[in-house]
Amino acid sequence: MSAAAQAGHRAHWSSRWAFVLATAGSAIGLGNIWKFPYMAGENGGGAFVLIYFVCIVLIGLPVMMTEIMLGRRAQRNPVAAMERLAREAAAPRAWKLVGVLGVFTGAVILSFYSVVAGWMLDYLMRAGAGRFHGMGPQEAKAAFGDLLANPYELALWHTVFMFLTMGVVAYGVTRGLERATKIMMPALAAILLVLVGYGLARGDMAGAAAFLFHPDFSRLSPQGVLAAMGQAFFSLSLGMGAVMVYGSYLQRHISIARVSVYVAAADTAFALLAGLAVFSIVFAHGMGPAAGPGLVMQTLPIAFGAMPGGTALGALFFLLVVFAAWTSAISIAEPGIAWMVENLRLKRGRACAAFGVVVWLVGVAALLSFNVWEGFRIFGRSVFDALDYLASNILLPLGGLAIVIFGAWVMRQTHAREELDLDEGWFKAWRLAARYLAPVAIALVFLNLIGLLPGA
Ligand code: PHE
Repeated sequence: MSAAAQAGHRAHWSSRWAFVLATAGSAIGLGNIWKFPYMAGENGGGAFVLIYFVCIVLIGLPVMMTEIMLGRRAQRNPVAAMERLAREAAAPRAWKLVGVLGVFTGAVILSFYSVVAGWMLDYLMRAGAGRFHGMGPQEAKAAFGDLLANPYELALWHTVFMFLTMGVVAYGVTRGLERATKIMMPALAAILLVLVGYGLARGDMAGAAAFLFHPDFSRLSPQGVLAAMGQAFFSLSLGMGAVMVYGSYLQRHISIARVSVYVAAADTAFALLAGLAVFSIVFAHGMGPAAGPGLVMQTLPIAFGAMPGGTALGALFFLLVVFAAWTSAISIAEPGIAWMVENLRLKRGRACAAFGVVVWLVGVAALLSFNVWEGFRIFGRSVFDALDYLASNILLPLGGLAIVIFGAWVMRQTHAREELDLDEGWFKAWRLAARYLAPVAIALVFLNLIGLLPGA
């Protein structure tokens, strides 16, 4: 794909499966394995999970279909795509700001994403060195604390991950990755199943299931509802053009709706498996569910440390998580790179270097917020948390809102009909969701947050 983009004409995915794999590769990543469990834990479990599901179906699916549709129709990077589609619809050119916002959002996300992927690289080494063996909850917590306290170690792995990501984006070896995704994703699912099996045998799976599936709305704040919606956007890679740019490499005849359903289903399954695995360990060891971003790092090593073959399996698990993060990171960078190459006429390598350096620097600020700059706060949050909050809870939903409004209200509906190519009933369902349900839901969550809804 990228190699052809470099040569000046746009290539396309080799088949529907190639696109499904790439999009699933984008969706399934740290958002599922790292973020979903700790967000659910911080926001009281069941009610958060339920709202998260509702957001996936009601907002996520229509936004995903619309985003892919816009990309495929325009056959351009998100900035140029929005500009072109706006022209086609005789709408203001300012719509291209949606694309610009997406490029910016991508830079924000990649900065902290790469730091977390760095943790996974670090844990890959530790697992391989047998350091999880016999680990208890106290040690697991202390070990993660040691990592966060060490800026050099964090920076080393953050740097390695940035090179991995920008290297692939620069040289366009995505074909190889497509093929690898086919093996690595099922393998990751298999190890998650092993972890769930461990949770059944030795953990508190009943406690985990009760926590994740018994909604207790008294434990969910307006902030928690926003977090659930933000997590739906983040996990499905929506609202910043990642899926749009992938859609722009999609051939005409493929059903956008079907692909979207596959990806959303697979993404949700990974998040649930990770959640069950993590919380069965949390409750078996009397740990708190609200440990924050370190939750996965403080729980899974206990399971690997106790099970037979845990050293090899643990190393393999973190390797696969790194891979999943990698395929996501590539899609986070791609809108910005495609824009710099196609619009600013930069060479692909240069574009990657420029984007990579900026993102790397912001990432360094994020990782320093765990140690040297610990006391520094932006609106009461550390740099790391502030970047995540800004991107997931504000920028992605805003981007998604603009995307559905454009697709369902501004774009010529004959074009939408042509692209989506659905039966009349399903087309109407999409339009109902994209015109009314999704925008209203996003708006309500924001209003609720700022206390403008009665009872909030
Ligand atoms: N969906 C990815 C994950 O869950 C992260 C991502 C966000 C990717 C936004 C692309 C765009 O890890």
